[in-house]
Amino acid sequence: MSASAQLPPRCWVEIDLAALERNLKLIRASLPASIRYVAVVKADAYGHGLPHVAARLMHAGADLFAVANIAEAMTIRELSADWPILLLGATLPDEDRYLADYDLAATVSSADEVRRFDAAGRAAGKPIAVHLKVDTGMGRLGVWHDRTPALYEQIRASASVRLAGVFTHFASADEDAAFTARQRALFVDTLGALPGLDPARLFIHADNSAGLESTPGAGGPFNAVRVGLLQFGVLPHPHSLLARVHTEPVFSFHTRVGLVKELPAGTGISYGRTHLLQRDSRIAILTAGYGDGLARAASNRGAVLIRGHRCPILGRICMDQTVVDVTDLREPIPCGEAVVLVGRQRDAEISLAEFSHWADSIPWEMLCSVTKRVPRHYKTPLGL
Ligand SMILES: Cc1ncc(COP(=O)(O)O)c(C=O)c1O
Repeated sequence: MSASAQLPPRCWVEIDLAALERNLKLIRASLPASIRYVAVVKADAYGHGLPHVAARLMHAGADLFAVANIAEAMTIRELSADWPILLLGATLPDEDRYLADYDLAATVSSADEVRRFDAAGRAAGKPIAVHLKVDTGMGRLGVWHDRTPALYEQIRASASVRLAGVFTHFASADEDAAFTARQRALFVDTLGALPGLDPARLFIHADNSAGLESTPGAGGPFNAVRVGLLQFGVLPHPHSLLARVHTEPVFSFHTRVGLVKELPAGTGISYGRTHLLQRDSRIAILTAGYGDGLARAASNRGAVLIRGHRCPILGRICMDQTVVDVTDLREPIPCGEAVVLVGRQRDAEISLAEFSHWADSIPWEMLCSVTKRVPRHYKTPLGL
């Protein structure tokens, strides 16, 4: 452990791994038993820390991990030599050889990729696993749906490429149910146009967290879901039906009070003096800023919790400091007092959705925005 890791914390994240495990189990229990669980853990497991999260999800029984790139896959390989891993991002030509080395499944969208992966499989002496991605309206990776049969035939004809899955991705599952239904129907039609397809031997998947709201029951072609946000206990949108699954937040974000002082009415606060005190005030200066992951866009909009009270952010959030109003707190606030940026304190809560809203952002982005200097503290680890 580095010497700095033993310092008292100024800004930190707490990750509740037991909640993560409970979430996976709850999500699974809400789905037909035949549905396999693809854990989406890209971007350092949405900022939660990939090694700890992947270890806990293995313990909880995730069937497959989905990551963005080979570096992330290598982190999982340090935990397990053979847990199935899918690369969701496009593979670059100079990365092809790592597919066999690390036993990774690649996403395939084009004839050129099939040729490349076939060559890589031949060179390695073992076939490269691929998940064929169908573009049903996302307009990103994947082969356009009506060109899928030709690519499928090319895969079937390639001795060193092995089809391990077929999938699509929804563009607006959190805001456009009709378009999602159209994408789902197009995908099902596309699967029907692939002769000899044996779903029992493949992962057939479409649903991300928001897609789960409209997942058909057992019996359709789908036999897997790809869950990212929801496993971390965050709903994909405020009115999500998934609230009934009762997942719990895994992530909470904390800092401390560095200084408390009194200032007279009329004083400008922080850079640009964008807030002028309306009354004689007591302010607290927190030991965290945008250099830690508080969005500057939340200046003069957000709030924090101190002793269970909401204290509004005054003026611009700085790189390492944030000013909040503690005038209405009756109690004295000592230097070093704990502050919650996201999470619960006493009976109060600031949700990640609210924290994201203040920044005109989304929970996915806010989780990825917590910076490297912020230590992650793991509750209930498995002894990594
Ligand atoms: C292809 C793909 N599948 C699944 C997911 C998981 O989405 P969510 O975090 O909304 O569950 C993502 C996330 O970005 C994705 O890009």
